[in-house]
Amino acid sequence: MSPRRLACVIGWPAKQSRSPKLHGYWIKRYGIDGDYRVEERSPEDFPAFVRDLARHGYVGANVTMPHKDVALTLSEPDARARTVGAANTLWLDQGRLRSTNTDVEGFLGALDAAAPGWHDHAERAVVLGAGGAARAVVYGLIERGVGTVHVVNRTVAKAAAFRERFGARVEPARWDDLPRLLEGARLLANATSLGMTGQPALSVDLGRLAADAVVADAVYIPLKTDLLAAAERRGLKTSNGLDMLLHQAVGGFERWFGVRPEVTRELFDLLAADLAAKA
Ligand code: ATR
Repeated sequence: MSPRRLACVIGWPAKQSRSPKLHGYWIKRYGIDGDYRVEERSPEDFPAFVRDLARHGYVGANVTMPHKDVALTLSEPDARARTVGAANTLWLDQGRLRSTNTDVEGFLGALDAAAPGWHDHAERAVVLGAGGAARAVVYGLIERGVGTVHVVNRTVAKAAAFRERFGARVEPARWDDLPRLLEGARLLANATSLGMTGQPALSVDLGRLAADAVVADAVYIPLKTDLLAAAERRGLKTSNGLDMLLHQAVGGFERWFGVRPEVTRELFDLLAADLAAKA
């Protein structure tokens, strides 16, 4: 029998993380002799803890705020983590600490589930935001061959930096440009915190999008944001932030526990109930 395998989420704070619930569900479902724990580590303690991950008994870890950038420098990142500029998943590979950014596959996995084949006709996509979440979204869109990615951000310099990072397919833009950019676009993704409970509202006129457009929102509190509700009213396909969170977890679980887990309706409902209970 293989030995008991341990993984964890490292953050500061980390107690609010949904990851233990969702990895715990898969550990049980696949009958794995393992555990997924929470490790609260300050920025001062994080580097030593990560360097000593094996001695602490772990085969790997998720990394959350505020450690994602530092995690990159402490590990051997793959192309995704390097280009996105942040690592959220670490694993030990024959003594080497490797890393990736599974937020990219979280975004793509949720989108594929909601609208299979979406990228076949997504010549132009509009992304709202130019923070950490937006970097994973834009990487995913470029990887799937979207021709032009308009990055709309309040601080335009940050959107312009996306062009440096991801290349000339990125077109930086300001909020005033949004109505024009939405005209006929087939994909809109919100990667700002707007529309999240406790944050300012996000108001976008979806009437200009193509009739077969897909709308994605990385916000998952509330589960159905005003943006997604408006998209549904228009009959558009939608991809929500909780699905992104669930799909984001697949790659880590597979690397640590050796099983590629399935994102099921039951798991979605479990996490949705948890979010509702804590709201
Ligand atoms: P995350 O890592 O979750 O992406 P972040 O890096 O802080 O978080 O990014 C938050 C995004 O939401 C940014 O694009 C931010 O715009 P700025 O770069 O101009 O700050 C955007 N955002 C947050 N509050 C906003 C607001 N009130 N109006 C417009 N954009 C906002």
